[in-house]
Amino acid sequence: MASFKLLYVTFTLLTLLSSSTFCLGYPGFNFGRGRGGRGVGGVSRPIGGQRFSGLSPRFYSQSCPQANDIVISVLKTAISKDPRMAASLIRLHFHDCFVQGCDASVLLDDHPTFTSEKKSVPNKNSIRGFEVIDEIKAKLEQACPQTVSCADILALAARGSTVLSGGPNWELPLGRRDSRKASLNGSNKNIPPPNSTIQNLVTSFRRQGLNEVDLVSLSGAHTLGMARCTTFKQRLYNQNGNNQPDSTLERSYYHDLKGVCPKTGGDNNISPLDLASPITFDNMYFKLIMSGKGLLTSDQVLLSGKLGKTMQLVKAFADDHTLFFNHFARSMVRMGNIRLVTGNKGEVRKNCRRIN
Ligand code: HEM
Ligand SMILES: *[C@@H]1O[C@H](CO)[C@@H](O)[C@H](O)[C@H]1NC(C)=O
Ligand SMILES: *[C@@H]1O[C@H](CO)[C@@H](O)[C@H](O)[C@H]1NC(C)=O
Repeated sequence: MASFKLLYVTFTLLTLLSSSTFCLGYPGFNFGRGRGGRGVGGVSRPIGGQRFSGLSPRFYSQSCPQANDIVISVLKTAISKDPRMAASLIRLHFHDCFVQGCDASVLLDDHPTFTSEKKSVPNKNSIRGFEVIDEIKAKLEQACPQTVSCADILALAARGSTVLSGGPNWELPLGRRDSRKASLNGSNKNIPPPNSTIQNLVTSFRRQGLNEVDLVSLSGAHTLGMARCTTFKQRLYNQNGNNQPDSTLERSYYHDLKGVCPKTGGDNNISPLDLASPITFDNMYFKLIMSGKGLLTSDQVLLSGKLGKTMQLVKAFADDHTLFFNHFARSMVRMGNIRLVTGNKGEVRKNCRRIN
């Protein structure tokens, strides 16, 4: 355990030092001037600048130029009160985009014509951050009434949370509109479970128009945050129906996890997804997978699943955090473009929990 603490301190320091390179634009990262970054082949171009699909990074530059600053100021307070909040907000954007596209459907409460996605298996007792989104929305309604959509707030909050945790910044296309319904079924069907095989994961991401590179880079969001015992218990006690632990789980980590997650009970006990640096956005997640310390099956199978593409990417991201940061930024833009509602379809909600 002592060695982990040391590791944690070392990496926090390293991250503080190295992340300054990526945070130069903060807090003034503006809509029109993305910080840019180096492409994989060393070609210089703005991160994510390649695929706006009807959205524009300057969408609010006339109607609400201070939108991003408002988001960042609420995030700063919220994350300093609860460091896990950055993780929770990044996940909220993912759970929004994978169900009916990035349309803020995940934020809706129950309504006579639909059931809230908050009750789905992946979300129940798990998804968090709604109060922070409400606070951002209230401030934005004061500054620029009925202008900034809840779907864009989720995208802005995910980017801001990444940057404030030491991760990359990117130029963020905006102009999403909010749905007038939610889909509980869609949430149950489209968000992959933690015991997914590598094939399940690839299929699930393909359905959203995302590829293996997106799968690995976006899984890197698990460099932040926590998971409940119920999401990894199967690996400790009965991974393959033979009452044996998952053989890909490193031995000492396995023993530590049993302490958090007993065979019976304790389902809501939580453990960090990245045990070495759970509130720092870095590439430690991939280094841990390399040493058999991925928490979820879905994390470890990126390496152990015998799919060459994802195995190679895990290794490459573990070796090169800049490569991971660039890919993460690009894949976040791609995820943020899933099945958009734009133009005069949908609406800009006044309250993110209710249709107008
Ligand atoms: C590849 C498939 C994925 C699976 C199977 C998966 C599964 C999970 C599970 C089971 C948890 C723990 C939830 C709980 O116990 O309450 C979790 C947490 C989290 N996930 Fe994923 N996830 C996946 C992809 C993603 C993606 C694409 C993102 C964002 C880009 C993401 C971001 C997060 C974050 C930040 C947390 C921590 C949340 C917190 O601490 O509140 N995940 N994920
Ligand atoms: C959701 O799924 C359930 C069970 O599969 C089905 O009975 C119900 O009609 C579905 N609802 C919608 C809105 O698709
Ligand atoms: C994953 O977990 C679910 C729910 O506990 C279970 O029904 C299913 O069989 C598991 N899948 C695999 C591949 O282990």
